[in-house]
Amino acid sequence: MTVLMLKPRCGAEAIDGTERSGFRAAVLAGLAQPRKSIPSRFFYDKRGSELFEEITRLEEYYPTRAELEIYETYGSEIASLAPQIGTLVEFGSGSSRKIRTLLKAMQGLKLYAPIDISEEMLTAEAQALAADFPDLEIVSVHADFMGEVVLPAAVARHQRMAFFPGSTIGNFRPREALQFLERVLGVVGEEGMLLIGVDLKKDTNTLVRAYDDAAGVTAAFNLNLLHRINAGLGGNFDLAGFAHHVRYDEGRGRIEMHIKSLKTQRVRISGRTFDFAAGETIHTENSHKFTIPEFHLLARAAGFAPLHTWTDGERRFSVHLLGKGEPA
Ligand code: TRP
Repeated sequence: MTVLMLKPRCGAEAIDGTERSGFRAAVLAGLAQPRKSIPSRFFYDKRGSELFEEITRLEEYYPTRAELEIYETYGSEIASLAPQIGTLVEFGSGSSRKIRTLLKAMQGLKLYAPIDISEEMLTAEAQALAADFPDLEIVSVHADFMGEVVLPAAVARHQRMAFFPGSTIGNFRPREALQFLERVLGVVGEEGMLLIGVDLKKDTNTLVRAYDDAAGVTAAFNLNLLHRINAGLGGNFDLAGFAHHVRYDEGRGRIEMHIKSLKTQRVRISGRTFDFAAGETIHTENSHKFTIPEFHLLARAAGFAPLHTWTDGERRFSVHLLGKGEPA
């Protein structure tokens, strides 16, 4: 095995959201808007990543288990529909249980290229995988896949499949989701494929519970943003004065996560002041849900053809294999 680490062109700090000036600029700009928001990439500091890992094991958070069930049940079927694929490119690694199941099923793979914003995550994962898959070449790419990703030449030696699990596609706005899929098509090329996990529309109660668990782990994950602002930017958020707030917007088909101010209050951050009305919120995340036809429409608009779709036994989650389609 070979483990190769590719460095990003800009400094590591600048891309993983921990660089202080980028964080400050984003927070100050987001809170100055009439409808306050903070970009969700700032969730994932060390504590945030740990809490997210905990979310994926919650009883209420079904997507991780449902998606894993699909790879465990249909792994060999996926592999048989992609016999020509030699390279697997994962956008945003860190879901080690899913990738292991897939790598085991896809016996013909020669090279695995995880792309991730966290160097720590990439290194740990690559080392663990290298031990268990001795014949697989692993090329870690340290980059923000939301930006332009330049892949090493080795990746292009074989036919490529991109892997984008976790319904992360749902965290983009519709136009960004389309642009992202177009970019992925550019990376895998004419003969390439995309295997993508997409959470399905379902009753509002099940959806809301997945983002508002009884133990309060998702609440802690969301409110950790205020901790980060207090600790890193000299903010004075009163943590008891804010609460985790989740709603399902049926029209847009998305779960929204907010941080709600429980009273009229003023907060100081880096010498600036921000006023909150009682009930006013900071919008922190969207998670769009799809029907299978809705997702096929999006895939086709990006230039992909849906080749096969699998769901878990309870039809909560979908995994799509996409190939090259007709121009939209
Ligand atoms: N993409 C997943 C989802 O939308 C995971 C995720 C992203 C998430 N941000 C989150 C889960 C915030 C809980 C809270 O479900």
